[in-house]
Amino acid sequence: MREPGIYNHGGEYGFLGLRQGAHPGMTAVISESFRMPLTRRTDTPTVALDIPSRVDALDWTQITVALDGQGCSVLKGLLTSVECGGIAALYPEEAHFRSRIVMGRHGFGRGEYQYFSYPLPPLIQQLRPALYGRLYGLANRWNEAMGIDIRYPASHEAFLKRCHDAGQTRPTPLLLQYGPGDYNCLHQDLYGEQVFPLQVAILLSEPGRDFTGGEFVLTEQRPRMQSRPEVVPLAQGDAVAFAVHHRPVQGTRGVYRVNLRHGVSRIRSGHRYTAGVIFHDAK
Ligand SMILES: [Fe+2]
Repeated sequence: MREPGIYNHGGEYGFLGLRQGAHPGMTAVISESFRMPLTRRTDTPTVALDIPSRVDALDWTQITVALDGQGCSVLKGLLTSVECGGIAALYPEEAHFRSRIVMGRHGFGRGEYQYFSYPLPPLIQQLRPALYGRLYGLANRWNEAMGIDIRYPASHEAFLKRCHDAGQTRPTPLLLQYGPGDYNCLHQDLYGEQVFPLQVAILLSEPGRDFTGGEFVLTEQRPRMQSRPEVVPLAQGDAVAFAVHHRPVQGTRGVYRVNLRHGVSRIRSGHRYTAGVIFHDAK
């Protein structure tokens, strides 16, 4: 996502109340999620904060191969349906957020999103360092391959200190809400000089049940070639890890750098919620 300068939403929370009324499906969708029997990870019937071990249990060999090959990879079943519903249900609760962006006002697309404030919700707070810990090695390898001098520390805490020392102190994890006709234009989530080259987005709604359309889309701009599109199918609770900006590609005459953008295609019906986990903080 992008943040158009310092976004003052002081007068907007009234709108949020109206928005709930204007989107009767939203409450219905969320409460339905709470009632849904667990179809994924039935071993975790309640919100379980075993996030580090759950992240470690993913197939990181396969994930790394996919990130190297396509610039993105699915993290299957990262969250349960109950956890997804719990995070999506935070959307109307203004105390959790520092800023709200209405995409249509900035030419970003259509729909809206909110940046969480610190302290982050426990699930997001645990996911961020756990995922970072599995991705920083790949980020360092990519930078080495691309001839970029920057290396990332092993702990997310140390990386956040680097962001904060550079004046990037505002949290970037966010919650996105799309309704019928909404979409997200292709973009890169860059918030300052300090950038972690990978990020993760978690689909909180169930395709086909809660919404139709709304596919996660990635494009890769290659030197002297036309752009390559990639559509990533996700189920509720799945996450996609992907390159924020650049990644290295091995060519016949050495490594070259490709430029990635991501977005979401038009939602045809229903409502779609996503949580974005961005590892660098914002100015
Ligand atoms: Fe984004």
